[in-house]
Amino acid sequence: MSDKGFILWFTGLSGSGKSTLASYLIPLFKEAGKKVELLDGDEVRENLSKGLGFSKEDRDTNIRRIGFVADLLARNGVVAITAAISPYRDIRDECRKKSHAAFVEVYVEAPLAVVEERDTKGLYKKARAGIIKQFTGISDPYEEPTNPEVVVHTGSESIEESAQKILKYLKGKGLV
Ligand SMILES: Nc1ncnc2c1ncn2[C@@H]1O[C@H](COP(=O)(O)OP(=O)(O)O)[C@@H](O)[C@H]1O
Ligand SMILES: [Mg+2]
Repeated sequence: MSDKGFILWFTGLSGSGKSTLASYLIPLFKEAGKKVELLDGDEVRENLSKGLGFSKEDRDTNIRRIGFVADLLARNGVVAITAAISPYRDIRDECRKKSHAAFVEVYVEAPLAVVEERDTKGLYKKARAGIIKQFTGISDPYEEPTNPEVVVHTGSESIEESAQKILKYLKGKGLV
């Protein structure tokens, strides 16, 4: 078993499955003897990034903070999982460049129609009604990764299938 830390960077629309996949994987990493931390977008915005909004500038600041903390953890042997929409390619790539550990970008892909139908937090309904402004996928951009290490299609795969794809990649790289 490897004692290497790495960053497992989930990116995708709200409701695509980032938090679900993180929760599924965390106990498996722990069983494999890894130290794990999760930087979940919603939780970070309540703490580390409290007060930030959803302009491009504030979103970038939020993601840079997540990238900074993830790197501190990963270079000390922790599996640092990030689960934030992280809609902008340039900032994700900047986090990748600054990382001292392996950076594994997972594109959690699902069609807008699927995540809107799920509407796990009722936010798409509010975004469509104009109650929430600057909502990713509706009234704010999402830039797909051009070269992610793993792509999962949660509109058509089960949680287990998506998680196994990620584990297979990590095992292949000797990271778990
Ligand atoms: N393959 C899959 N991977 C992850 N989530 C899935 C998958 N298939 C269906 N889902 C469902 O999609 C929803 C994703 O919600 P969530 O994880 O909160 O999204 P996010 O954290 O990206 O906003 C959950 O209800 C989950 O059960
Ligand atoms: Mg989430």
